[in-house]
Amino acid sequence: MSTSTTNPNKALWEKGDFTRIAETMRESGEQLVGELGVTPGMRVLDVGCGDGTTAVPEARLGADVLGVDIASNLVAAGNARARELGLDNLTFQEGDASDLKDLGDEQFDLVVSIFGAMFAPRPFDVAKELVRVTRPGGRIVMGNWIPGDPTLVAQILKISAAYSPPPPEGFVSPVTWGVEDDVIERFTAAGVSKEQISCARDTYTFTSDSSPSELVADFRDFYGPTMNAFAAAASDGRQADLQAELEALFDEQNTSTDSGTSIPATFLRVTVQR
Ligand SMILES: C[S@@+](CC[C@H](N)C(=O)[O-])C[C@H]1O[C@@H](n2cnc3c(N)ncnc32)[C@H](O)[C@@H]1O
Repeated sequence: MSTSTTNPNKALWEKGDFTRIAETMRESGEQLVGELGVTPGMRVLDVGCGDGTTAVPEARLGADVLGVDIASNLVAAGNARARELGLDNLTFQEGDASDLKDLGDEQFDLVVSIFGAMFAPRPFDVAKELVRVTRPGGRIVMGNWIPGDPTLVAQILKISAAYSPPPPEGFVSPVTWGVEDDVIERFTAAGVSKEQISCARDTYTFTSDSSPSELVADFRDFYGPTMNAFAAAASDGRQADLQAELEALFDEQNTSTDSGTSIPATFLRVTVQR
């Protein structure tokens, strides 16, 4: 039996085609990586890497990069991008942030997870795994959406949840990774002292030549969490309401002055010094 049918976390991300959304995130990904002090030969692990929005710029800076993602379609898309770009220092493979069992201890100088590991179940296991694979003196950098934040992605997730069935008992919301106290609790449980953890608000901007309404359609058709919300909304005739709510959100937050879209979204940048 395929794991896709048994692991809802994997199924959620294999369901759509996140590469369609990732295309709107390339500029911010490159900018963020430019601030991480990546140097040639550095061993970098990118967890929940998608098709390489941050892994590609890390490799372009000369690091030896391994991208790990739970979705096989995104791993394939990442490896295709690495080949097309001639980046032989960049490889993608399947793996679960909650259990990085194929990776040895203390292998990486820098472990990056931008809106990636936050979506894995069992956040305490995630923190333990990220710490385990990072070498002493190395660093972990996470980007996490913030619950209740008024900007784009937190609002998409909030609106989507309101149209979706209640999550199973024991489910821990991914956006709890955007709460500083939770982040500290998880990493201190993994053996890191509080002084080694720092959190700061940062911004990612979603940019596209498409209109806000076309971008909503991309989220509806290709982004797992929104696809599920539309499926649930369709089952009780509320699809048009969901579409209207998302279109109002995207329109309201669009800062582009031409026919395209540019929407900034706030996230929590977490840095852990190992
Ligand atoms: C919002 S996307 C972000 C992708 C990429 N980091 C980027 O910025 O474009 C979330 C990613 O996390 C991956 N993911 C979700 N749960 C995961 C898990 N348990 N282990 C590894 N990756 C996971 C998804 O497959 C998806 O590629």
